[in-house]
Amino acid sequence: MPDLSRHAIGVFDSGLGGLTVVRSLMERLPFESIVYFGDTARVPYGIKSVETINRYAAEITSFLLKHDVKMLIIACNTMAAVADKTVKDLSPVPVLDVIDAGAQTAVAQTKSKNVGVIGTPATVNSNVYARAIHAYDSGIRVFSQACPLFVPLVEEGWLDHEVTRLTAQEYLRPVLAEHIDTLVLGCTHYPLLKPLLQEVSGPGIKLVDSAEAMAERTARLLSERGMENTHRELPDYRFYVSDMPYRFQTIGERFLGRTLGHTELAKI
Ligand code: DGL
Repeated sequence: MPDLSRHAIGVFDSGLGGLTVVRSLMERLPFESIVYFGDTARVPYGIKSVETINRYAAEITSFLLKHDVKMLIIACNTMAAVADKTVKDLSPVPVLDVIDAGAQTAVAQTKSKNVGVIGTPATVNSNVYARAIHAYDSGIRVFSQACPLFVPLVEEGWLDHEVTRLTAQEYLRPVLAEHIDTLVLGCTHYPLLKPLLQEVSGPGIKLVDSAEAMAERTARLLSERGMENTHRELPDYRFYVSDMPYRFQTIGERFLGRTLGHTELAKI
């Protein structure tokens, strides 16, 4: 087995939302290099068909594998929900996705065994979170709600805006009525709405940020497989997008919480 420890981690998303996962990875694994691909030309995926999402996911996987990544992370909940198998079948390196990490955290956290899940329509329709949660504990009741308006609201930067608050109240009402004590943020964009969602949900509900859970899982996988970069050197971060690198750069910095390096336009 060749030594892959200094190779980058490949992370991908339908657009810039996956930078929330990159942010958690940078904090948790500060010496790991990252190659990111965001399909800004074709976002949003959450309202597209399963066939289309699978085709796009296969193209992105091939692109990142050409960069000799040591593992792949499907940061996008929608792709993880419906194209997980396509990516795993194509990849000779380990693949992690946000779903299992979020499900595991929710199972560990819930006391009432009533868990809410919010995501894009594609994610919610796939029922993937309920299946992942039930694989750990079949006694947990899962209540899901698609929140398609959250993605554009976050991209607009309306993180603490009355329109977003009213939208959240409307979306969350049915799941909150089920006496959940845990709410899984099943979409790359939702961690940015955490303060607002916490306020709307109330203090008794724990929010599960799958980006954080993902970074923990990645650290564990790298260490188990002896693939972590033990060289204490500055990591290399590369960002590729399929359209509008400038917009990605400006909005992306909000997702990342720091300055983004150079962003390149890539043809996949
Ligand atoms: N990245 C997607 C997700 O996590 C949200 C944006 C989209 O719909 O493409 O589900």
